[in-house]
Amino acid sequence: MSSGEVLIVEPGGTLAGTIRVPGDKSISHRSVMFGSIAHGQTHVRDCLMGDDVRSTIAAFRAMGVDIREHAENSLTITGKGIAALRPPDGALDVGNSGTSIRLLSGLLAGADFALEMVGDESLMRRPMRRVTEPLALMGADIVTAQDGTPPLVLQPREMLNGIRYRLPMASAQVKSAILLAGLNARGTTCVEEPVATRDHTERMLRAFGADLKTQPGEICLVGPQTLRATSIVVPGDISSAAFFLVGAAIIDGSDVRIENVGINPTRTGVIDILRRMGANIALSNERSTGSEPVADMRVRGAPLRAIDIPNDLIPSAIDEFPALFIAAACAQGTTRLVGASELRHKESDRIDAMAEGLRTLGVSVSTSADSIQIAGDPTGLRGGVIESHGDHRIAMAFAMAGLRATSPVTLHQCDAIRTSFPGFVETSSLAGLPITKVSP
Ligand code: S3P
Repeated sequence: MSSGEVLIVEPGGTLAGTIRVPGDKSISHRSVMFGSIAHGQTHVRDCLMGDDVRSTIAAFRAMGVDIREHAENSLTITGKGIAALRPPDGALDVGNSGTSIRLLSGLLAGADFALEMVGDESLMRRPMRRVTEPLALMGADIVTAQDGTPPLVLQPREMLNGIRYRLPMASAQVKSAILLAGLNARGTTCVEEPVATRDHTERMLRAFGADLKTQPGEICLVGPQTLRATSIVVPGDISSAAFFLVGAAIIDGSDVRIENVGINPTRTGVIDILRRMGANIALSNERSTGSEPVADMRVRGAPLRAIDIPNDLIPSAIDEFPALFIAAACAQGTTRLVGASELRHKESDRIDAMAEGLRTLGVSVSTSADSIQIAGDPTGLRGGVIESHGDHRIAMAFAMAGLRATSPVTLHQCDAIRTSFPGFVETSSLAGLPITKVSP
């Protein structure tokens, strides 16, 4: 396997200063999608212009939507309603982006044209039946490869019917796919979720004028509904901030401020977990940008202790476990996470990828199908060569581990960092991480 872009982190760094992180990935995707099917001009500010959101933008451009990019990561999207979408020439390639393929499946399940969706090597291994099965119950005709992975082939459908569906796993992508199909379906669509997952779809659909009824554990809407254009300001991504929360927490003497980060309560598990481990994190200037709450964060180094991560915090920290496992490796005692099989279905198998990398750095780790145990060692980590498995969050998590290593940490296959955090090397360097790009 090629080593792709290689980064090296030298030992001895401390994190300090004030930084900002790029726009939230989940919110950026949704602003492009909803703006593209709304009527009128939607303005998006502070959009994440990473590879994943660019895949969503490219998909809607291929379906005839006028999306203009301006300075300062802002976009103008001229939507003419979902019925104005036209068939793309050839398959839609959404690269590494699970959010694009799963949400677009729902959004386009009732389209009046056929469509094929593909992605990169990692996406082509990810499970899609979790969306195609409920969409089929609504009347959609979507075929996956035999093992339930992409390509996805959608055939035109007259009109979908609403359903009531109980999510078999905690997944905002599945919830969103069904709700988006429900927008264009006849009758009522209700999604029941046993545990709350990120609710950006619900919040943003309302901002686009949709009528949704929510109560704890259930979201319902009556279709068909049309969306009206609006203006969106995207908060900084807490999933990107997480690397700095951990990087500063594990180094005595660190002191970092991260401005303007989204603190939607369905996303803040990383803060709850780090605080339980003893991290010193303060939020200030809490406010809202449109329908999402934001705050500034300050994190200072503090001794961390191991915990048993509570099950109910898993969905709200689902993307932050690579970073949290680095915190666990630097904590006193053994940290346990159980009931997290979803981590095996992300951009890589994050239980195995993290276990492999942590062992390389001298950490004792054991895993099972849905769990991981990490024996922390507050005296420090070894250096070594880490395979990122083409997974942005594995690469960025181990970049922070380099702060505690006794010799350099070399990170292979870091190209994927661009999917969610363009400028990661520059922002990290600004905060004091001794990181350099060596190739290509
Ligand atoms: C996302 C939902 C989560 C998350 C992903 C983004 C979203 O996936 O891991 O990075 O934007 O809805 P699941 O729905 O598979 O948990």
